[in-house]
Amino acid sequence: MEKVADTDSSVVIEGETGTGKELIAKCLHRNSPRRSQPFLPINCGALPEHLLESELFGHERGAFTGAYTKKIGLLECAQGGTVLLDEISTLSPNLQVKLLRVLQERQVRRVGGQETIDIDIRVISATNENLEESATRGTFRKDLYYRLNVITISLPPLRERVEDTPLLAEHFLEVLNKERQKSVERISKEAMDILQGYDWPGNVRELQNVIDRAFSLTDSGMITPSDLPAHLVRRGMAVLPIDTQRPFKQAKKVYIEPFEREYLTKLLMECRGNVSRSAKRAGLDRSSFQRLMKKYGIQSSNVRLGFCSTEIRS
Ligand SMILES: Nc1ncnc2c1ncn2[C@@H]1O[C@H](COP(=O)(O)OP(=O)(O)OP(=O)(O)O)[C@@H](O)[C@H]1O
Ligand SMILES: [Mg+2]
Repeated sequence: MEKVADTDSSVVIEGETGTGKELIAKCLHRNSPRRSQPFLPINCGALPEHLLESELFGHERGAFTGAYTKKIGLLECAQGGTVLLDEISTLSPNLQVKLLRVLQERQVRRVGGQETIDIDIRVISATNENLEESATRGTFRKDLYYRLNVITISLPPLRERVEDTPLLAEHFLEVLNKERQKSVERISKEAMDILQGYDWPGNVRELQNVIDRAFSLTDSGMITPSDLPAHLVRRGMAVLPIDTQRPFKQAKKVYIEPFEREYLTKLLMECRGNVSRSAKRAGLDRSSFQRLMKKYGIQSSNVRLGFCSTEIRS
């Protein structure tokens, strides 16, 4: 990234959802000579073709029904700066041709317009598909692919860079500590083992959400397994090393607490928050059941309203 930031080369950033493609694009822009000019991202997959066309290239007044005023397109607005074409693989064949022409000629023509406008932009594209394969298959134009893909940055999924997990988790914790009126000093070793054992289908974004949630839940000043979503603990457990350095009771707690929390929440949810019925089904007396609920900060009213649904769905 350091080498590429300084240049005007087109870059394609490949990676699964949540791996940090947009963050990388922003970072390239901020470290480039274009940093004082705009950085404009656009999601090519989010708009129907004709809307995307006028978003990108702009249109003249009266160019089509509903074009009441002139619109300056994104490529023109980004003059001097960087454009991020997100989900580039979804671009229609028609827009692929148009974009290629703009990039080759360094000129843009608004929809319905005659005038050509010189543009000076750097193009970064992002994709969660393998663009080279799409080009080989023929769903993405090869000539456009070569034009966009001078440099490729591939972001590995988080599960393939387990060593990044503690760094990222601690970074998010630090940010939360600064942002919110609460101090959570650290993530316990057991919790960190679970984080590192999980496969993170939503990648860094999912990790960020998990830390955010644990930060809100914990009241011990430390993130422990019981602050993590149950599905994560369950899956992480397969690889969670049993810590024989700890006394039996402590080591067992690491497994038991998430189980108890999930059991209670799920049962209460099934019984629509009715504590007596839940206790009966669990084979516990009501007061023991309530003691457990208190231990995990579970309130029957919240369960009834579905606030604990993340545990249940998983
Ligand atoms: N290395 C990192 N350091 C700090 N935060 C990161 C890092 N990588 C990703 N993030 C954070 O993770 C979240 C997701 O990143 P981003 O939006 O860039 O992912 P993306 O690959 O563009 O995802 P999508 O494919 O879903 O659009 C953001 O909040 C981002 O700030
Ligand atoms: Mg993105």
